[in-house]
Amino acid sequence: MRRKIQKKLNFFKYPNCFQANENQILKGHCFFDNENPIVLELGCGKATFSIQLAKNHLNQNFIAIDTKINRLADGAKIALEENLQNIVFIQMHIEQILLHFDNQMIDTIWITFPDPYPKDRHEKHRLTNLKFLNYYHHLLKSDGKIYFKTDNIELFNYTLNILESVHWKPAEFTFDLYQSKLINLDNSIPTEYEKKFINEGKKICYLKLDNSPNLLENIPLEPIPVFSTVKEWIPNHEIWSLEILKPYQNKAHELIFEEYDINMQFARTNDFEKYFWVLIKGEIRLEIVSKESQNQLKFHQYGHIIDITLGDFKVYGITIQRTLLVKVPKSL
Ligand SMILES: C[S@@+](CC[C@H](N)C(=O)[O-])C[C@H]1O[C@@H](n2cnc3c(N)ncnc32)[C@H](O)[C@@H]1O
Repeated sequence: MRRKIQKKLNFFKYPNCFQANENQILKGHCFFDNENPIVLELGCGKATFSIQLAKNHLNQNFIAIDTKINRLADGAKIALEENLQNIVFIQMHIEQILLHFDNQMIDTIWITFPDPYPKDRHEKHRLTNLKFLNYYHHLLKSDGKIYFKTDNIELFNYTLNILESVHWKPAEFTFDLYQSKLINLDNSIPTEYEKKFINEGKKICYLKLDNSPNLLENIPLEPIPVFSTVKEWIPNHEIWSLEILKPYQNKAHELIFEEYDINMQFARTNDFEKYFWVLIKGEIRLEIVSKESQNQLKFHQYGHIIDITLGDFKVYGITIQRTLLVKVPKSL
């Protein structure tokens, strides 16, 4: 557990890691000091695939995207150790990708072994459904390319059907990449998941798509979802200052605060048994309300707040300048 937490913290310390969400828009952010082509890997996991591509193509820039901070942190560490300047790691929901990149900005998109989401009701999460393909179409330059690899034949067939429904013909595809003539130096770099699938004797499906500027023009873009609620703070209790919280520090069953002066906005994890950890950048006004004890703790500051519910707790935070790691015991 500690290692997982440490990885998450490292993510926010590493200079090649960034977080993108509705509160932190990347648009205009310059990751690379050159105009080289940009390649995205979506759902990259540890991004060992992108790292190898980045090593092979020093004249291209790579952006590896996933929602899982600790997986990204693993890849980012390797890239830092190898002093790779042409790759960055971004925590982002692909659903929000159009918030963060300009239209026609990207040269190549790799979708590598996405979760197949076999249940019909989960179709909306498949990274090759029409909503996502439409997003990619807008992101890519007119001569941009999409590459897709999967071990999952159902997902591959689903994708081929979706493409056919909009008359988007794959430039090339195969149900068995490693036995086909389509194999090349890039598409034969195995991802972490791919190594497992190959060991299990599975065949790897692969397709390449040329962006087709006119095909999706009549299909409206779906609205970009918002994953955390941002509300206006309305003070309705006496507002406590940071000083009042000091006595709580480092005592069992109480809050622990650690400060981080890094460019981080907001993250949360709620996957721990005894504690919630909330990472918040900024002067914080934090109110934690346990249903049982009705304990309330507040920092003072005004601004927009992020409001989340973790189990029985309500946690609100606003973002300004500093970063705190707040460890919230469930037994508060
Ligand atoms: C099966 S793993 C594959 C990881 C890597 N591409 C590989 O082949 O080793 C799928 C990855 O996609 C990520 N993922 C799934 N849905 C996502 C989404 N909507 N936005 C960002 N990442 C997503 C998951 O967190 C996970 O790391």
